[in-house]
Amino acid sequence: MNTKLDIQKIVCLGAGYVGGPTMAVMADKCKDIEFKVVDLSKDKISLWNSKDLTKLPIYEPGLNAIIKKVRGKNLFFSNNIEKAISQADMIFISVNTPTKTSGYGAGIASDLKWVESCARTIASFSSGHTIVVEKSTVPVKTAEVIQTILQSNQDRVDGKTFSILSNPEFLAEGTAVKDLENPDRVLIGGEDKYSIECLASIYRNWVEDKKIIKTNLWSSELSKLAANAFLAQRISSINAIGSICEVTGADVREVKLAIGYDQRIGKHFLETGPGFGGSCFKKDILNIIYLSKYYGLPEVAKYWEQVLSLNDWQVRRISKLVVDKLFGTISGKKIGILGFAFKANTNDTRESSAIQISKELLSEGANIIINDPKVNEKQIAKDLGKNPKSESKNNFEQGSWSLEEDFELIFKNSDAILILTDWEDYKNLNWDKYTKLMRKPSWIFDSRSVVNPKEIKDLGVKLWRIGDGTL
Ligand code: NAD
Ligand code: UDX
Repeated sequence: MNTKLDIQKIVCLGAGYVGGPTMAVMADKCKDIEFKVVDLSKDKISLWNSKDLTKLPIYEPGLNAIIKKVRGKNLFFSNNIEKAISQADMIFISVNTPTKTSGYGAGIASDLKWVESCARTIASFSSGHTIVVEKSTVPVKTAEVIQTILQSNQDRVDGKTFSILSNPEFLAEGTAVKDLENPDRVLIGGEDKYSIECLASIYRNWVEDKKIIKTNLWSSELSKLAANAFLAQRISSINAIGSICEVTGADVREVKLAIGYDQRIGKHFLETGPGFGGSCFKKDILNIIYLSKYYGLPEVAKYWEQVLSLNDWQVRRISKLVVDKLFGTISGKKIGILGFAFKANTNDTRESSAIQISKELLSEGANIIINDPKVNEKQIAKDLGKNPKSESKNNFEQGSWSLEEDFELIFKNSDAILILTDWEDYKNLNWDKYTKLMRKPSWIFDSRSVVNPKEIKDLGVKLWRIGDGTL
């Protein structure tokens, strides 16, 4: 059976950081299938449809070129959710699953209201047989919730049938296109062999069969949480070691090299930084903590809680350190912040360490000037809960912020520069030219191992570098 031919129309609910790039790459690889990405947000869909490709709602290297190739051919963005669902053979649920902010499990459990609402809409508007694919990251057993909602409908309406698959997404932001085009693996969890084969055959258009792993639904759901928890745990581990380096005269970059050569440990994901950010790690570990508590495994919950608490400590210690080095007060001092996104090559600021660090510096009365190649002023104002300093005022009020592209203006009369995101632009800055503009004593705080320490020290500038006890 050529199962690929059975799937002609695919719909994705959710046009976010996962839905948009995932469907774009799939559309590029499967030209004979029509893909429709739908969302509740009118603004988002109109940005995905904008003629000017620099206006797409998310920034991902390589994405514009793919959108240009497939949009309007076999990839469409729309708000007409009901119509899209009614025509779909396969539906990906790729909506947000953030941590609950109120009610039972607030601050720890995932809020599944968007996933549940998708299941209800699919139940109402689908026709014939529909394969529903859980792409969102969800707590284990969520497929059961979706299944129950769909099956209760299946019983009522003639001719409507469903099967459920779990197909978690492992892309990382900033490398989404590359990760989607050449994934380490594709994971498909499910029971219905025909549906699994349909989805596998779509991926086989560009992914080797041996990389397509098939498991039961619960292993698939849990594997996604476990993968993120393991990755985050490595970051907390190296950040913990980095802080020991700082007080003992060791250098975490040397330690990283030495341990990374051990093939059992491996070289990847051992970069010290200002704490992990992004929309996934914290939320997914909280999810594991919640599940552990729910199933009576408090020791397991405590183990993962420690990964998060080390990360919180790492974020907080950076702003404290800046204050300490600047003679215990930063009130009225000018501090440049290089990087606001949670990592390089994305415009996403969710859980970015820069938010917490900037808030703490502002509350100490610092005047901060932020630079980021892709994050805009509106987003920063939302994250900081504070508007930028007003253009009409010549002098800074204390505890103010502004966004600035011009490095001369950022460095001029500043007391310190704090590097928070490892954008390539910062690696190639003319440090000689810009540091001369700073107030003395001038400080560079490098939380991302971006600068060359010898170069900075030769310029007579004081340097703090994460995990560096040799300074
Ligand atoms: P996002 O917030 O960027 O996008 C989600 C979109 O879903 C939003 O645009 C929202 O308007 C839309 N939406 C919500 N309810 C809807 C509904 N009923 N119908 C249609 N659209 C609806 O989120 P994201 O970063 O794309 O993440 C989506 C899921 O994928 C989450 O579960 C996340 O944990 C997981 N994930 C994210 C990443 C990542 O790097 N961002 C990677 C892997 C997995
Ligand atoms: C993560 C997972 O990597 C991805 O597989 C999953 O699908 C979604 O969650 P993402 O959050 O987009 O991806 O980016 P990632 O590269 O994992 O970085 C997360 C955070 O950890 C960033 O703040 C990053 O700067 C930080 N990080 C990463 C480190 O501090 N050190 C490292 O060695 C790697």
